[in-house]
Amino acid sequence: MSRGLFKTRFGFIAAAAGSAVGLGNIWRFPYETGQNGGAIFLLFYIAAIFLICLPILIAEITIGRKTRLNPFGAFKLLGGKAYAVFGFFGLLSGVMILSFYNVVAGWAFGYLLKIVSGELHATTEFGQVFGDYVSNAGSVTTHAAIFMIGTAFIVGAGIQKGIERWTSLLMPILIFMMLGLVAYAVTLPGAIDGLRFYLVPDTSKINLEMILSAISQAFFSLGLGLGLLVTYGSYVSDSQNLVRSATIIAIMDTFIAFLAGLLIFPLVFSQNLTPGAGPGLVFVTLPGVFYSMGPVVGKVIGSLFFLLLCFAALTSTISILESPVIFLQDQFKIKRKWSVAIMATITFIIGIPSLLSQGASEYFTSFVSYGGQSKGFLDLINDVFSEISLPLGGLLIALLVIYKWKFSNMVEEVSKGNSKFRKSLSNNYVHIILKYVAPILMGVLIIIKIFTNFLGKDLF
Ligand code: TRP
Repeated sequence: MSRGLFKTRFGFIAAAAGSAVGLGNIWRFPYETGQNGGAIFLLFYIAAIFLICLPILIAEITIGRKTRLNPFGAFKLLGGKAYAVFGFFGLLSGVMILSFYNVVAGWAFGYLLKIVSGELHATTEFGQVFGDYVSNAGSVTTHAAIFMIGTAFIVGAGIQKGIERWTSLLMPILIFMMLGLVAYAVTLPGAIDGLRFYLVPDTSKINLEMILSAISQAFFSLGLGLGLLVTYGSYVSDSQNLVRSATIIAIMDTFIAFLAGLLIFPLVFSQNLTPGAGPGLVFVTLPGVFYSMGPVVGKVIGSLFFLLLCFAALTSTISILESPVIFLQDQFKIKRKWSVAIMATITFIIGIPSLLSQGASEYFTSFVSYGGQSKGFLDLINDVFSEISLPLGGLLIALLVIYKWKFSNMVEEVSKGNSKFRKSLSNNYVHIILKYVAPILMGVLIIIKIFTNFLGKDLF
């Protein structure tokens, strides 16, 4: 059964950058920055991307190209049974992440409809509008279902005709829309205060929690740690320079997150609003901004913004669905169309408690209580499968490369498309990060996270 290959280098980069650029960049990054003191968070985030994440990104893609398999098959081949288990756990975490990611993507779609229809310009109670919306089981379920069906449709069409074609189309549009919106936002009166918040670091805001959030954000934003990029790597031709492609992907991801901040903070400050709303920044604060811009300008800018958010989310949901799909095909010889139907349905069903956990169902809204807080189902899944699984997976990938597969074999694989890699500085850099920096930092991060998130204890 044929697995598929990306046709062009651009196609692979568009797909992988599409995987990286998503709600993590445009929804989560700005609200994390808003809550964590602005510019200083941006600095730590950029440091985390290049000092920890980029080498892991290169490792994931290289493992994929070497094995031409899904993460489970790849880790089994290179690392044996124990690593196969963690490859499987990575896939499972991906399914769990997609189950709630698709819920938020559905909200973005719902908000696109709301602003286009003029509904968001008929009120000023944006907090209440959001609360009513997310607790309305019918709307959120419909929107999430549409989003999942769209994702399944693209993944079902295959690597070149589905994933490569769509991401190659959507990513350039997304970048142009973003640049246009930023150009508009930074010229608004009052934008300068937003730029100051975003670009002038306030060192008094440095603290451990902020640093850990920046590292978590970097992992989430690149979509690293679960081996899902092993899958995309398995469709890349041997002649491609993986170090260069991975660097371009990391730069694009960072650049789009950076632009999202450059768009959102000037907008927020131009209306004298505050940036610390948390997850509500995009769904509560921004609608207020679009409202103040008036029914014409506000509607145009707002519609473009939510359309952009949908595109970004779509290129990410595609990438998360692809891994379990190719897993079914590689391991059980199930045809792509069937794998897609099976995985999309399972993921959607797993997502239903998350869908209902924002007020629609009392039971799922205050589902558990740990760390001194009551948590909804969506928070629980996020805490376990993205806050813990991602850095844990990053740690295990580094260990796999260094101690099982051996770094010299990775160098050989990378060298296929990059004959200078063996003697280059980037070789030493990737080696040192994978061997020392990533394992130590990830180990510390995981321990602290478990204490602070789950046990409600501050270690320092
Ligand atoms: N990186 C994407 C974003 O920023 C989300 C994503 C795609 C992801 N693939 C992933 C997150 C794998 C975790 C793991 O929105």
